[in-house]
Amino acid sequence: MGIAEDSHDLTRVGPGTVMGEFMRQYWIPACRGTELVADGSPLRLMLLGEKLIGFRDSSGRVGIMDHRCPHRCASLFLGRNEEDGLRCTYHGWKFDVEGRCVDMPSVAPSQDFKHKVRAHAYKTVERNGMVWVYMGPNQESPPPLTRIEATLLPEGEVDISFMQRGCNWMQALEGDIDTSHFGFLHVGHLDPDNVPEGHPLQHTAGDRAPMYHVKDAPWGTTYGAYRTVRPGTTYWRFANYMFPFFTQTPQGPFGQNIQARAWVPMDDEHVMMVFWRRRGLPATNVPLKDGQPMGGTTPQPMFKPNDTGWHGRFRIVPDESNDWMLDREAMRTNRIWCGIDHIGTQDQAVTESMGAITDHAWEHLGPGDLMIARTRRRALMAARAFRDGQPAPGLMTPDILSDARSGFFEIDAAVDWQDAYAQKVMKADRAAALGLSDAAATVPAK
Ligand code: FES
Ligand SMILES: [Fe+2]
Repeated sequence: MGIAEDSHDLTRVGPGTVMGEFMRQYWIPACRGTELVADGSPLRLMLLGEKLIGFRDSSGRVGIMDHRCPHRCASLFLGRNEEDGLRCTYHGWKFDVEGRCVDMPSVAPSQDFKHKVRAHAYKTVERNGMVWVYMGPNQESPPPLTRIEATLLPEGEVDISFMQRGCNWMQALEGDIDTSHFGFLHVGHLDPDNVPEGHPLQHTAGDRAPMYHVKDAPWGTTYGAYRTVRPGTTYWRFANYMFPFFTQTPQGPFGQNIQARAWVPMDDEHVMMVFWRRRGLPATNVPLKDGQPMGGTTPQPMFKPNDTGWHGRFRIVPDESNDWMLDREAMRTNRIWCGIDHIGTQDQAVTESMGAITDHAWEHLGPGDLMIARTRRRALMAARAFRDGQPAPGLMTPDILSDARSGFFEIDAAVDWQDAYAQKVMKADRAAALGLSDAAATVPAK
């Protein structure tokens, strides 16, 4: 297989594509529960290249369906959300959250055929503030919902944020598993001697070319990056990729670091990042020893107001049209090494600047890109194996995901990296031990 074919299969997500069909086997985070109000406005949702409509009916149930009315394809976005259904405003046909046509007032009762008509609706589940959708073929018996730990945290214990990015899902995701960029793009200006004792960025800034191990996991890929911080002590940073588009990043103390991200493809050229972070985890942004602020790490980017367009949700102000608000003066004085403020905006700038879908044939991957190369291959092989009749990995065994953890820790240098990880997982705060289970889920009866 050539690199062009590999790239194509990895990055395209529409119906009928290799990766698109693979992703459709898994539950997909679609929107916040609060974006859908009972009898409120329908929400345009672009997911895996499909134009969908989300709405909440009078009873609180959530429906997600193709936006085209099955009569003559007028958009149900224009619909009236009333009395437990969405009514098309062209001829008045009305659909419930499962897509059943429940009223056909433009047809005489003697000719009514509403029982033969269905809107193209997908299964949905709401859990801990998130609406999930299953877009796969098995609508009658979908697989169990993912059990990635952060998604099990009840609403009061987790902060969930969304941020749209104008590029392919894979190149966006790769920023999360690219350990060597942190010491440059994000904190290239940091003097390790000026970082407060015990802050993890002391090590990141102190050694900007860490070594690391990479391996496949049952649920994806994992890496451990390591640096010697004192004779006999190794500092580890673990991070993970989980099928089909989830990551766990290492910016948090391993034992407490319950967090995850989804890079949900909207279409081939837009991706929605969904970030679950356990409430109360320590902030990266702290004052430096000399009392100055840590440049480039302000906590929140500026968001544009949401609008009702297909790409209208959770866009940030910095984008290509304003050079991602690059401040050459901040760069020149080394207040912010890359010249762009906010960690998420920095990632946004570099990955969007590659172009909507990066040309893999143009790249020269180095030793620092081992995790990226392995993850691309793992995702591509799993998607092709699924196309060829193999099961999608982890789909029916969501509990294996609960053992996936990322974060940093120090340990005796003599301990093997996999043993170190296993020891730390054993001692970590676990979602199950925090009393979380599916009992915390709200699954509306349909
Ligand atoms: S197009 Fe929707 S009712 Fe006719
Ligand atoms: Fe980054």
